Amino acid sequence: MLPHGELGRAWRDARAACRVVHLDAAGCSCPSQATFDTVVGHLQREVEIGGYAAETEAAARIEETRAAIGRLVGLAPEAVSFTANASKAFADLLSAWPLPEGARIGVLASDFATNRAFVDVLAARRGVEPMSLPADAAGRVNLDGVAAALREGLDLVAVPHVASHRGVVQPAAALTALCHERGVPVVLDAAQSAGQVDLAGIGADAWLAPSRKWLRGPRGVGFVAVAEPWRTRLDAPLEAKEGPIAARLGLGVALREMEAAGAGRVAERIAALGTLARRRLDGLDGWRVGEPLDEPFGLARTCHHLIHTKMVHTGQRRRPRPGRFAGFSENAYSLRNLRNRGVPCDPSRHASPCWPPSFCSPEAPRAPTPLARRTATTSGRAATTAPAAGER
Ligand SMILES: Cc1ncc(COP(=O)(O)O)c(C=O)c1O
Repeated sequence: MLPHGELGRAWRDARAACRVVHLDAAGCSCPSQATFDTVVGHLQREVEIGGYAAETEAAARIEETRAAIGRLVGLAPEAVSFTANASKAFADLLSAWPLPEGARIGVLASDFATNRAFVDVLAARRGVEPMSLPADAAGRVNLDGVAAALREGLDLVAVPHVASHRGVVQPAAALTALCHERGVPVVLDAAQSAGQVDLAGIGADAWLAPSRKWLRGPRGVGFVAVAEPWRTRLDAPLEAKEGPIAARLGLGVALREMEAAGAGRVAERIAALGTLARRRLDGLDGWRVGEPLDEPFGLARTCHHLIHTKMVHTGQRRRPRPGRFAGFSENAYSLRNLRNRGVPCDPSRHASPCWPPSFCSPEAPRAPTPLARRTATTSGRAATTAPAAGER
């Protein structure tokens, strides 16, 4: 029985216009009707009285959104800056961070490609040295290895709380505590965790995330939040005065909805749904799941020994030969994302090594697990049935 069934019903009621079983919160959620109405309402107000006057009118609500973001990450409202998206937040933050010449930045192989590309830009421009932090086969950071890296000297650790292509939740609180023992600040990319993983008590020095994913807010807005003493040491502001005020207001509504539901309860429900999905998918007709099945998270990354899901997702229909997947960059989506943003990238450098090479290989099949219920879809392909009422 899944916990907090009333949250599932409330989620659907708040999105009566949603026409699909939406499974892409890791990419972009369906916002609630109230969020949408707030965005449109503000745009309408801009038509009626002009953008600047509408912004002045909405000033208190914008500050409420800032405060809600602060509560989410455990920082004061003034620590929070609105940004356009997570990649821009990361680039602006690291550009402004007081890094000494030749600074050593601890990174993970599972970094989102745009973030890693920007660290490489800093390496080329400012002599920054990216130091790869060790992780286990699942992609989880190895804290003993981090302790060793800290002893050798790091100036900053900048890692994803959860990677986009593998839903493994990093032990962020322990990692931060370890880094703080050596006075090393931690930047946490919470793009995939904010809105579904409890962020309380982690104590990172800086956080960033877009609104549109698990926070269920509008597109085109995100945040970066920086704790003291680092905030006053940044050498450039992180927030542009000009921006999508309507989207910032919409994010405020989405955050209030989450607070009303109870962030902890939302996290428990999503984690239970993720576990249910992974347990059902793993071993089904050659599909394998990339995460530990009980990982407390809503992402289920699947891989088939004949079909690469990321390729299907990005519209590439080519069917590579069976057995050739071990060498494929599963981060193809990130590479395309980079190129779309005009960032030159070299696949041999940005291909993510965070899935073990054997993961997609048919030579190492995982024992099939029996699937509960299956039906035929109109396309004739098999599909899982919707969860039973008690599981929704
Ligand atoms: C972990 C992670 N970091 C950063 C990003 C980049 O976010 P944005 O597209 O808002 O720049 C993503 C996007 O999927 C992500 O999953």
